[in-house]
Amino acid sequence: MTDERGTTKFQVDLRRHLRECNVERNLTRLICEIADASKYIINSIRTGDLGVAGTSNLYGEKQLALDVLADRILEKRLKYSGVVASVISEEQDEIISFEPEHSECYSVAYDPLDGSSLVDVNLAIGTIISICKGDALLGKGRDQVAAMYILYGPRTTLMYSTGNGVHEFGMNQLMEYTLVKENITIDGDTGIYSPGGQRNLYTEGVERYVRLLEEQGCKLRYSGGFVPDINQILVKGKGIFLYPHLKGKPEGKLRLLYELNPMAFLVEQAGGAASDGRMPILDIEPETIDACAPVFMGSKKEVALAQELVANETR
Ligand code: F6P
Ligand code: MN
Repeated sequence: MTDERGTTKFQVDLRRHLRECNVERNLTRLICEIADASKYIINSIRTGDLGVAGTSNLYGEKQLALDVLADRILEKRLKYSGVVASVISEEQDEIISFEPEHSECYSVAYDPLDGSSLVDVNLAIGTIISICKGDALLGKGRDQVAAMYILYGPRTTLMYSTGNGVHEFGMNQLMEYTLVKENITIDGDTGIYSPGGQRNLYTEGVERYVRLLEEQGCKLRYSGGFVPDINQILVKGKGIFLYPHLKGKPEGKLRLLYELNPMAFLVEQAGGAASDGRMPILDIEPETIDACAPVFMGSKKEVALAQELVANETR
């Protein structure tokens, strides 16, 4: 049942939605575990010290940086879920293997607290999750079976896809995730653009691209947080996010495994596109666990235009 904005009126919680979409049992369990873990992360963000690693709290106890804390919360939760074979986190430098209780198990790559440098200025941040079947973490993004993020802003948003559309949930007063909108789509014109990286380091092609967007009357909407910037595109159904190849930094900044692949999965599922300027993000073969790539993601038309302008640039 929806209102005139297409927003669901009755509260459908996350577990029920996953069941109704016939998502595999262990995958449902995994997604719900992550959703539960996010409640503890929210609590740390809201009540914790700003968490510069190595500082002490009021009682002289050592404080953990929020991103380290978020990492521990997730790792523990995933380990005891019984359905996870291995994890890799942006906060750690190697794959951690568990012994799952089930043969039908998954592997998870995650960025526990993306944008954590925005915590002190109180801007929005998020957790980004990529899920693959079995024990495969180093494959192409195309191999993902699910992706999700949780956005900690003035409100909390959870967006997920198991390859069957993208669905938006909001956290209610009982800290439950309830359905806001099913089948989110990116179909509009650009309208807004979020350009990452230093402009004086843009290559000729990227500079021309951004000028074209500006001439078209696009509005600048860049928060400096990947999760809120992509959430804006998904919820508004239009826009382009770029963190391009830069002079002296041809691989850009954002990481394939923890940031780009899950977001590209969601954006493609919503009918948008995600490219490194030459090929779809989801088709890139990551060479290392911390591989980075340039990115142009959002409305299909704008991603195609970016490719026209930058594909042949030497990097
Ligand atoms: O993880 C990196 C991150 O904080 C993203 O959230 C964001 O999109 C990007 O870096 C911003 O980078 P910059 O400060 O260079 O614009
Ligand atoms: Mn990050």
